[in-house]
Amino acid sequence: MSVDNQRLPYDKVVQAVLGRAKRTKSDQVSRNELAIILSELARVLGRQVAGAVVELGCYRGATSLMMAQLMVELAPTKQLYLYDSFAGLPSKTEYDRSALGDDFQPGVLKASKSEVLKAFAHANLPRPTVKKAWFSQLSGDDLPEQICFAYFDGDYYDSIRDSFRVCRGRLAPGATLVVDDYDNASLPGVRRAVDEWRETGLSDIRSFRPVDSLAVIRLMV
Ligand SMILES: C[S@@+](CC[C@H](N)C(=O)[O-])C[C@H]1O[C@@H](n2cnc3c(N)ncnc32)[C@H](O)[C@@H]1O
Repeated sequence: MSVDNQRLPYDKVVQAVLGRAKRTKSDQVSRNELAIILSELARVLGRQVAGAVVELGCYRGATSLMMAQLMVELAPTKQLYLYDSFAGLPSKTEYDRSALGDDFQPGVLKASKSEVLKAFAHANLPRPTVKKAWFSQLSGDDLPEQICFAYFDGDYYDSIRDSFRVCRGRLAPGATLVVDDYDNASLPGVRRAVDEWRETGLSDIRSFRPVDSLAVIRLMV
């Protein structure tokens, strides 16, 4: 049965999307983290914050598909933009080194743009804009003019720093950013990049909340 978003509060819409996607397993985020990401997205959509939704580091699109389903329910005209090297992870910098993070090697987590697009078509979801590029090669023009919600999942210091760089000046008042692996001892560069961005004071941060491994950052309206 389709979700009647006129009558259900947003958390019920989130639960419905999560429930419907029971078989869509993600090996990249836990169910609880997924629930947090979707709740934050639902909050932004419900408040009608201006701009598009972006994910930097989409891999095979498991989280992207869930976000897209929620968007169809709550804000069907919102655009979704996905970015990835589709060549897997780049090399680590010194800030990414951790005895726990040996599994993260260059080229690991390789996916393809066509498999992401196929997954969207298979799920009968609107086709997102998918850009294959290293984040360091993206310019502001590759991003939508305004962003209401950004999910950064690039794993490494440079990848997260570059994600903040390309989104600079595009985050709408009231936008929310969620960064994966902020609290993950295997990937210490993520926390460093987030904390450095916070220290720049370039965005008006309303609240900063580490929850599970995520950093949830809400901007001032
Ligand atoms: C952990 S996976 C993303 C998982 C995805 N967000 C999900 O929830 O299913 C990390 C992805 O980031 C991409 N990535 C990491 N650093 C990148 C960079 N600097 N430029 C482009 N892509 C990058 C990798 O190719 C990989 O697909």
